[in-house]
Amino acid sequence: MEFKKRILCIGAGYVGGPTMAVIALKCPEYRIDVVDINQERIDAWNSDELPIFEPGLDEIVKERRGKNLFFSTATEENIKVADIIFVSVNTPTKTFGEGAGMASNLQYWEATAHQIVKHSNSDKIIVEKSTLPVRTAEAMERILKTSNSNVKFEVVSNPEFLAEGTAVTDLLEADRVLIGAHETEPGTKASQEIADIYRHWLPEERIITTNLWSSELSKLIANAFLAQRISSINSISALCEKTDADISEIAHAIGSDSRIGNKFLQTSVGFGGSCFKKDILNLVYIAKSYGLYEVADYWESVVTMNEYQKSRFVRKIIKEMFNTVAGKKITLFGFAFKANTGDTRESPAIDITKALLEENVKVTIHDPKALDNAKIDLQGIDKNITYELDPYKAAENSNAIVITTEWNTFKDLDYSKIYESMRKPAFLFDGRNIIDHKKLYGIGFNVYPTGKKQLTHFS
Ligand code: NAD
Ligand code: UGA
Repeated sequence: MEFKKRILCIGAGYVGGPTMAVIALKCPEYRIDVVDINQERIDAWNSDELPIFEPGLDEIVKERRGKNLFFSTATEENIKVADIIFVSVNTPTKTFGEGAGMASNLQYWEATAHQIVKHSNSDKIIVEKSTLPVRTAEAMERILKTSNSNVKFEVVSNPEFLAEGTAVTDLLEADRVLIGAHETEPGTKASQEIADIYRHWLPEERIITTNLWSSELSKLIANAFLAQRISSINSISALCEKTDADISEIAHAIGSDSRIGNKFLQTSVGFGGSCFKKDILNLVYIAKSYGLYEVADYWESVVTMNEYQKSRFVRKIIKEMFNTVAGKKITLFGFAFKANTGDTRESPAIDITKALLEENVKVTIHDPKALDNAKIDLQGIDKNITYELDPYKAAENSNAIVITTEWNTFKDLDYSKIYESMRKPAFLFDGRNIIDHKKLYGIGFNVYPTGKKQLTHFS
């Protein structure tokens, strides 16, 4: 079949895979190739067991794969024939040198820029899909201009706003798509060409076009604002635990003000995921590099509060279990950084587990989707860890259950059966406030919600 356009995506990860699958679904007249340097990942995309778990993704990939959606490691060949190249490689926090622990590591991104220059023999639109520091397109353009040929590149920013666990619906029903381009004739033309892709399924008013730098920076700011709301509500959860105010009632009361809104006000053990911390630290680094130290400090405090929430949670577990947890069995319900994903990157459960291991706790981890990743995260330090897919077996003989991920399945478990199988007194620490605390207290548990009054049988 003759395709109207050829789109290439470099990077077949949590963003590249689902985004391209949805574009393939909605634009059957385009051929979409997704490439990666990781052969294992590509093999998984071509198998029945996709490398990432996302509700609804399997069906779309199965429908389009081999028709207009192709996964391979053939980067060079695909660069040659592509009209549009999305760059969706990872941009983790730098762990070395200047800016270590703060700035983005752009080595993977830069490597793709060099590959594009080397193998292109026709004009192309290059789309920044990865989250990048503001003004990265300038650096991309410098590299692209090193081409010896007459090939023209137009760089466009099109950051991705999907959240894991809801990637498919976030893509199909996106609140908005953001496209940033140079305010020149070729820039506007390229921006419209990218908008044409999304026009296949999104109404015009949801396609926002801006200048390049606003688009790059908006992505970092969107994540910073979302994370800021979580840190704000989590800071108040600590105050609630001291005053018997109730964090859910407060979230409802303030969230009912339409100026504040009710989303992202769920208190937790702290936010995780590969992006919030990375993107805020990057914002902090950028602000500092422009000498804006007060701006940097303001945003850094969002991360500081998140670290506090995690350590506060562990301190509460230790204190309430009579300050002696050594040798006790504590079972974590959940290891993924949020529900409906197997992803554990920056999951608060990692820090919580490590802190408990330092106290010589015997930790059991149950998670419906994240045990494989948990094993990788805790490799080398898991002598006192048991991984268990069955929640009931995981809870047997435990002194405490600690809820770290808001999986729906945790709400419907038979907690009477779990209570019977546990050591007494049985503790339950709900880091997500997802279970019926009064009911569990009635069963016999000593219940410690987050930001709410504790329910204990101790006098
Ligand atoms: P990821 O690590 O899951 O995927 C990136 C992929 O790029 C990896 O498979 C890696 O092997 C591949 N890669 C690296 N260098 C390559 C090269 N030279 N050629 C081919 N492949 C290469 O990362 P991700 O979660 O998909 O994130 C990608 C970007 O999108 C990041 O900048 C991230 O901040 C941003 N983002 C992520 C999410 C999310 O929910 N995970 C959401 C929005 C934006
Ligand atoms: C987040 C953003 O929501 C996406 O828009 C963005 O594209 C993405 O980061 C990214 O750039 O990577 P994601 O990290 O996948 O998406 O998941 P979120 O739903 O934002 O949750 C992040 C963390 O915050 C999770 O640990 C979650 O449990 C926690 N959270 C979320 C809370 O603690 N409380 C809330 O009210 C909401």
